[in-house]
Amino acid sequence: MKKILVTGALGQIGSELVPYLRDIYGKDNIIASDKKRQDDSKAGDGIFEILDVMDRSSLYEMVKKYNIDTIIHMAALLSAVAEEKPQFAWQLNMNGFTNTLGVARENNLKYFVPSSIAAFGPNSPKDNTPQDTIQRPTSMYGITKLSAELLCDYYHLKYGLDTRSVRFPGLISYVTPPGGGTTDYAVKIYYDAIKFGKYSCYLREDTYMDMMYMPDAIKCIVQLMESDPSRLKHRNAFNVSAMSFSPKEISREIKKIIPEFTISYDIDEEKQKIADSWPNSIDCTCAIEEWDFKPEYDLASMTKDMIDKLKTK
Ligand code: SER
Repeated sequence: MKKILVTGALGQIGSELVPYLRDIYGKDNIIASDKKRQDDSKAGDGIFEILDVMDRSSLYEMVKKYNIDTIIHMAALLSAVAEEKPQFAWQLNMNGFTNTLGVARENNLKYFVPSSIAAFGPNSPKDNTPQDTIQRPTSMYGITKLSAELLCDYYHLKYGLDTRSVRFPGLISYVTPPGGGTTDYAVKIYYDAIKFGKYSCYLREDTYMDMMYMPDAIKCIVQLMESDPSRLKHRNAFNVSAMSFSPKEISREIKKIIPEFTISYDIDEEKQKIADSWPNSIDCTCAIEEWDFKPEYDLASMTKDMIDKLKTK
């Protein structure tokens, strides 16, 4: 990767990925782009372009203008908002995706688009969900993610395009709040614990899902993209996770640092249904074997870091 175009650069992942990439590859080699400008974001601290991923010709021009060799496509709607407007979610997630993938093919670029634990469904094995297994997602977000996995594999096999991806779990960060995911509770709980000493959770206390701390997530994108292609038996997309916990377990961990913290439950049926259709925990053996995936943070170290950083913030 030498000249990288990042779409959705102001989003939850993009706003931390862009500064990380600039540190590694040089400020002038990362082109951050999003639908609109936001001046207080770090992603704007360098080359930034307004780019709507639905506009294929602008996308094409951007790739030519900067001599791009890699697209990291982050612009997408997350699971809970996608369920509120499924047709729009299909349009944005699929058209934005096929535009970027098509432009990558025409220019023979390296290509990354994140998949998700949402690409699994209620009849996938629940625990230690394997890399290769039944995938019949029931959420619109999951359907778009699985479609992208398949199409990226197709472009790799048919056209030799260098497509690589991971199935991200819930991502937790103190920098940019997530927008409309089912796993967002695991971020909000830290904000509310510090501000109010309590949190009302929209999922049942025993709902297990995979999670990862953002520093591990952005590191693993670069690690996968820079890994030796001859070692990769899989491509789209690798199971990655750093921990699996329930609302009850994360609240117990927060209590160790903020003893007066309390959690209550007010279940959102729609979000609960999505969470119940996803794995409790996924098996990351293939990512470990094929490109040495190794996250640093577990629930305890992430909780300590989140609370330290949010208190300063
Ligand atoms: N964090 C995402 C969501 O909840 C899962 O990929 O939508």
